[in-house]
Amino acid sequence: MRQPTDNMSIFKKRRQSLADRAKGAALVLISNPERIRNHDVHHAFRQDTNLYYLTGWEEPESILIFRPGQTPETVLFVRPKDVERETWDGFRYGPQGAQQHFGIDQAHLIDDFDKLAVDLLKTCDRLYYRFDIDEDFDHRMLGLLARVRRAHGRSGRGNMPIHDSAELVGELRVIKTEEDVHLMRRACSVTAKAHVEVMRATRPGVTERQLQGVFLHSIYQQNADREGYNSIVATGANACTLHYVFNDQTCRDGDLLLIDAGAEVRYYTGDITRTFPVNAKFTSAQRKVYDRVLEIQKELIGLSKPGLAFKQLQDRTIEYLTDAMIELKLLHVPRTEAIERQLFKKYYPHGVSHYLGMDVHDAGLYQIHNEPRRLEVGMAYTIEPGLYIPAEDASAPEELRGIGVRIEDNVVITAGGCEVMTSESPKEVADLEALVGRKA
Ligand code: GLY
Ligand code: MN
Ligand code: MN
Repeated sequence: MRQPTDNMSIFKKRRQSLADRAKGAALVLISNPERIRNHDVHHAFRQDTNLYYLTGWEEPESILIFRPGQTPETVLFVRPKDVERETWDGFRYGPQGAQQHFGIDQAHLIDDFDKLAVDLLKTCDRLYYRFDIDEDFDHRMLGLLARVRRAHGRSGRGNMPIHDSAELVGELRVIKTEEDVHLMRRACSVTAKAHVEVMRATRPGVTERQLQGVFLHSIYQQNADREGYNSIVATGANACTLHYVFNDQTCRDGDLLLIDAGAEVRYYTGDITRTFPVNAKFTSAQRKVYDRVLEIQKELIGLSKPGLAFKQLQDRTIEYLTDAMIELKLLHVPRTEAIERQLFKKYYPHGVSHYLGMDVHDAGLYQIHNEPRRLEVGMAYTIEPGLYIPAEDASAPEELRGIGVRIEDNVVITAGGCEVMTSESPKEVADLEALVGRKA
């Protein structure tokens, strides 16, 4: 049986915070669709993050209407109890259970949504809904809105204005509360410990998939719910493929291993990348790249404090990494020219950071009124500079070809700077060399 997964008061508190921003409005959130994998087997289901964030509700085929300040305020449409289906697919709460266990004002059968939604929406002055997630439901929403307009009769009211629900909820999610940070620390700690297990299990001859298995074993042993995203386990030049997905090669003596993997715990995910030598000893060429990336990553952590703009973090990263590329003889022009002509993108093509939380690339605006947003206490994000030198790059010094290094930690902004939540996973050369291949 699925239990309500957390202290229910967290969800109520979140709804209250949202209510302050959306008085008079209606927010409609739908569950993620279930996806067929093959025949009657489904892909693992994970609830829509915003729906979970506000309710703790994890069942598919569900819709929330949230009407701040009105009665009923929270209305949830859910699947019926069904003895036969529950025998096959597992427990369902049904409307009564939803109301009783989830602090929902009213719960109804999902099949009654179209019948009841007009009356619930017609007293609201605007709608928050995200189009483009479920096309079929988008059509239903448009039909519903036409019925709401007609229900207003000759009142002079037009169509309900529609705003994006993801932006509304995202702006709440972007500032983590104490409870959120508590859960994030757990996800980061589980992730960091699993990375240590992978380091211990790495040696020449082990496969990327076996190391992914070590990561999974460790996070499930620690009661994680799932991976926060598809793990990237990339040995040698595979590390230069940013979202490497195959994880099917053998780790070779003399190569590096890059692993980017995160555990999801209670819907919060860690997002750590570590790079270390398969045989526990960096070569001097690998050290040249690794030392520079590590130094830069630590600089960027040091810069992270309230008031800094995300764009400044990215600009500094580009400057530091471009300097490193020039030192390493990857680029042969001055820094300003390399930046102006975006030559650095050949070896560093991604952003240095993204928000982190319930989604690995978490919700929240990066610009406000076209101005770069500044960091605030409670924002959580990654710091992940990298250098990637393609194996076939004939213009790079030969010893550096095929080396890919990324180092990624997760931080939350505090009044005095930032807290690194992933520090249980080592990244210093001496610590890595002492750990790799040393089974506990
Ligand atoms: N793991 C994906 C990322 O680092 O953005
Ligand atoms: Mn990341
Ligand atoms: Mn990552």
